[in-house]
Order: sequence, then C-alpha cells, then structure tokens
Amino acid sequence: MDTKNPIVNTAADVPLMQVKGLIKEFNAGEQTIRVLHDIDLTINQGEMVAIIGQSGSGKSTLMNILGCLDKASAGDYKIFGKSVSQLDADELAELRREHFGFIFQRYHLLGDINARDNVAVPAVYAGMDGHTRSERAIKLLSDLGLGDKTTNRPNQLSGGQQQRVSIARALMNGGDIILADEPTGALDSKSGEDVMQILYDLKAKGHTIIMVTHDPKLAAQAERVIELKDGHVIADYKTEHYHPTHIQLEPILDNNRKGAFSGFIDRLFEAFKMSLLAMRAHKMRTLLTMLGIIIGIASVVSVVGLGKGSQEQILSNISSLGTNTITVIDGYPYGDPRRSFGDDNLTPDDAQAVADQPTSLVSAHSLIVI
Ligand SMILES: Nc1ncnc2c1ncn2[C@@H]1O[C@H](COP(=O)(O)OP(=O)(O)OP(=O)(O)O)[C@@H](O)[C@H]1O
Ligand SMILES: [Mg+2]
Repeated sequence: MDTKNPIVNTAADVPLMQVKGLIKEFNAGEQTIRVLHDIDLTINQGEMVAIIGQSGSGKSTLMNILGCLDKASAGDYKIFGKSVSQLDADELAELRREHFGFIFQRYHLLGDINARDNVAVPAVYAGMDGHTRSERAIKLLSDLGLGDKTTNRPNQLSGGQQQRVSIARALMNGGDIILADEPTGALDSKSGEDVMQILYDLKAKGHTIIMVTHDPKLAAQAERVIELKDGHVIADYKTEHYHPTHIQLEPILDNNRKGAFSGFIDRLFEAFKMSLLAMRAHKMRTLLTMLGIIIGIASVVSVVGLGKGSQEQILSNISSLGTNTITVIDGYPYGDPRRSFGDDNLTPDDAQAVADQPTSLVSAHSLIVI
C-alpha cells in the first residue's frame, strides 16, 4: 500500500471496526436464509476478542465479513472509519494483504513448498524483494520456535508446527489484525495452549486479535467475548484479562518495495517456480496430464493430416482425368423428352471436325463423344 496515500485511516483514535445493522443472507434454492441478524459491534485497535457460539451460529460468516472475504447483504461495515462498500475489489485485496493475517483451523498451507516459502507467499503479492522476503520468513519462523524446520514441507511437520507456520504467514506482511477461525480446533491441548500463548504475545505487541472458537474455556482467556446465537449477538463482555493496548505497530513494508512492473515479474516467476515444484511433487499426475496433452495434440495433427492427404488424393484423381477434356453428348441431354426421338446423333467424324477447327484447343482423342 502506498503509505503516503493509504486507502484507510490507521490513526489510533478511529475505531478499528464498526459494524451497524449488519445482515447476511444466503440463497438456498428458492429460499433465503438469514444467517446474521442486525449485528452491531465496535472493535478497537489492540483488542483481543473471542467470538463464541454453537456450530452454525454464524461465527465464520461474521469473521469472513470482518476480514473482507465476504460482503454483508445489508448494513454498514466501517474499517478504520471507511465503509468497505466504498472500496473496490483491488482496494479490498490491498486491505486484506496489508492489514489482515488469516489463521485457519486446517492451516491451508501449500503442500508443495517448504515452511519458509509458505510463510513468504503473502510478501510476494506485496512486492517485497526475494532476499528480504526469505530473511523475514526465517526470522518469523525462528521467533515461533521453528528455526530448524524452515526447509520442511507441511507434511513433514506436526499439526502444532503447521499452525505456527500459518501464524508466521499471517504476520509476514505485518498482520496488524489477526483473524483466526478455530486456530486450536485441530490441535491437542498442549499445542493449543502454545498457539494461544503466541496470540497473547501478539496482542501484547499491539496486534488486534479476533478469534473464533466454540470452546468457552479458550474464549474466557481472551479479554473480550462476543457470543452469537442463531445469528444474533446475545452477549458482549470484557473479561478480567482486559488490558487495552495502544501500541502502534511499526510499518513493515515501507522499505524494499518493488515497482509495479518488477513486482509483476516477481509474481510471475514465483508462480512459475511453484508450478514446477507442484509438477515435481506429483510426478504421476504430471505424467498423466502430459500423456493426455500428447494424445490430444497427436489426434488433432493426425485428423488434419488425414483430411489434407485425402484432399490431395481427390485433386490428383480429378486432374488425372484431364482437366482439358470436353464431353459432348449427342442429341438432347438426359431427361429431355425430345431425347426419345433419337435424332441429332454425333459420329466420330464430328469429333474430328471439332478437333480440326483452327481455334480449337482440343485434340480428337481428348474429345469424348457419347
Ligand atoms: N455459502 C453458504 N450458503 C448457504 N448457507 C451458508 C453458507 N455459509 C454458511 N451458511 C449457513 O450459515 C450458517 C452459519 O454458518 P457458519 O459457518 O458461519 O457457522 P459457524 O458458527 O462458523 O459454525 P461452526 O462452529 O460449525 O464452524 C449455517 O447454518 C450454514 O449452514
Ligand atoms: Mg465456523
């Protein structure tokens, strides 16, 4: 983001998120299901909020709207004082890339690249140069206790370690606002505690943490709890851990920014590198895909060749008949009723007579007389 002309106002005195009369509906066949009803919320910078509620109460839906991954059906959502409905798709992407860090229950790591490269992915889109990117990814992983696992692929890491990689990825571009949907949901209690500790530490550094959980014990450890039931906010209270944070986070991406063109080349190169890695990791799939492409191209080439060959054959047959042959039929043409009288017959002498004409281009033997 151009820090001289930010799309949103990041001043500390503006509420971070303000939601008024928010409604979310989904179409299910001919019916419309209302999943969130008239939600009003204000979340300030530096807060640690847990959103709780039973399965299906609308936690993830609300989280997706807060993270600008989805849009509300009605109502207003302001982030840093600016209504998201006024932002176009590029501005929303920029907002997500520069301010949000997402953590998911199932980590959502790219399986074909190692931990360091997974962490570095958001910075590719932010235009950070390769060297800085790599160094920052390694630093983040080391801070989260994974300094010796930077070259491991996700399937070579435990669940807790994978979640730490995904936390590092969320922090890669700064991650002022961490949105975590059931971050401990797939973890054992020890790994879950570790992840919670990391979230506390991030809160202490000034990050805003919004976490979805259906575990009331975990929620009680956050400093504010918002409870949803059937799409309504039924409780919103501060816990004894509440300590408002007013730390302004350091801007991370002001340096080492690439220009638009070199950023585009970098993304293209990264995409190419990732596709090569994916091909190498799935050799059988690549082989079968290649085989399909080869068979497809070979079929098209054979059909075109066959058509061309037949056309040549037919043309050569026609020209072997002689293109300078004139057929003269005696009497009236076939189908003419006068033909039955059988008069006006031609004889070979007539053929000779035509061939003997000084202006005639036909010789007697190429004149077929029927
Ligand atoms: N894309 C969609 N289309 C239709 N209905 C949807 C869609 N996404 C969610 N819903 C419905 O909205 C309701 C809330 O879903 P949501 O995923 O927000 O629940 P949740 O509170 O996160 O539940 P869980 O704890 O199980 O993750 C559910 O009844 C769900 O079926
Ligand atoms: Mg959910």
